Amino acid sequence: MYKCAIIGVSGGRARGHADAFRHVKRGRLAAVSSRNKDKLDAFADEFNVGPRYTDYREMLQKERPDLVFVNTPPNVRLEILEAAKGAGTPALVVEKPIAIEGEDFRAIREFAATSGKTDDGPKVAINHQLHFHPRRQRLQSLVAEGRIGEVRFVEASCGMNLAYQGTHSLQAIGAFLPGRRPLSVFGQVSGASGLRDTPGKHFAPDESLATVKFEGGVDAVLRCGANAPRVDDGPIYMHKRIAVYGTTGWVLWTMSSWETSIDGTRDGGSHEYFGEDVHGQAALTEAMFDWMENGKTVHPLHLGAALSDFNIILGLYQSALHRTVVELPVEPEDSLVGRLRKALG
Ligand SMILES: NC(=O)c1ccc[n+]([C@@H]2O[C@H](COP(=O)([O-])OP(=O)(O)OC[C@H]3O[C@@H](n4cnc5c(N)ncnc54)[C@H](OP(=O)(O)O)[C@@H]3O)[C@@H](O)[C@H]2O)c1
Repeated sequence: MYKCAIIGVSGGRARGHADAFRHVKRGRLAAVSSRNKDKLDAFADEFNVGPRYTDYREMLQKERPDLVFVNTPPNVRLEILEAAKGAGTPALVVEKPIAIEGEDFRAIREFAATSGKTDDGPKVAINHQLHFHPRRQRLQSLVAEGRIGEVRFVEASCGMNLAYQGTHSLQAIGAFLPGRRPLSVFGQVSGASGLRDTPGKHFAPDESLATVKFEGGVDAVLRCGANAPRVDDGPIYMHKRIAVYGTTGWVLWTMSSWETSIDGTRDGGSHEYFGEDVHGQAALTEAMFDWMENGKTVHPLHLGAALSDFNIILGLYQSALHRTVVELPVEPEDSLVGRLRKALG
């Protein structure tokens, strides 16, 4: 049994990681850390975890976990990755988004240059667990098997901004276009309230719209924020959707429903997000064990893939600021959040 740990259990997301262990076969939740002692104790008691720490470095050193879930704001990620590397932690799953702007992107890219590829660093995946939702897996397989013909166009959207949910949408686009490199992005942004400083540090413009060109003549359109379509009566995080159009059919996924049109036959139905999510999170965790056991079975949500997706966001920001199409990959400019604040505020 792999020994797993979570860093940061005061917020909401850690519950998803812990709950998934009901379905994880090869690992157990063995330790947790959080600076807030009351919330730490409440969480550890609820999920029946004995070893608990208010200092994640102490937990890494004393518990020597095999796999660590990093569930902190985006500005508290690199220091944990480096501490884990120093402690010899073999693998980490880091919450999205992996970065916010060019400076942290470059620093994490530098870290990634060694991680997972050599014995020097840990294997790192990013927690875009929707990829592993059973329904998403089935739709991704249909498209990969050519059941909608050749993919021509993808349309993805989410109700929250690029930092909160846009990386889920970009990961989804990539999941339906495996192996195709993004070539360019043309984007527009508006609204500065999401650029204000908050403890969550998920800085992004309130709304964004982008067209992304991929290899093989496939275009994707991405909409995030209030300009994205509403797909559910539920809370703001429920409005993620992706539609993939091919030469002979299409598939549509949302957080609560799905539709397909294959060879002229329509099908569809509904699913319950939390029911899907607990299995998606467990499957993501099992895929980490696969990678840890066989270095060639690289996790589909590995750090390099997330950095490539995030590079599209950086290109989008530069496209909006300079009012031009941006070729990808882009070497990010400095102070993008500050410049967006100035332009949109
Ligand atoms: N994949 C998904 O579907 C999904 C869903 C929701 C959220 N998320 C992501 O998950 C992450 C966490 O979300 P959340 O809603 O749980 O956030 P949150 O409520 O802001 O919690 C942040 C956590 O980080 C810890 N933390 C903050 N600063 C720290 C520091 N300097 N050192 C160590 N720990 C620190 C906090 O615990 P202490 O203060 O006790 O240390 C807390 O547990 C975010 O990146 C968010 O985007 C993902």
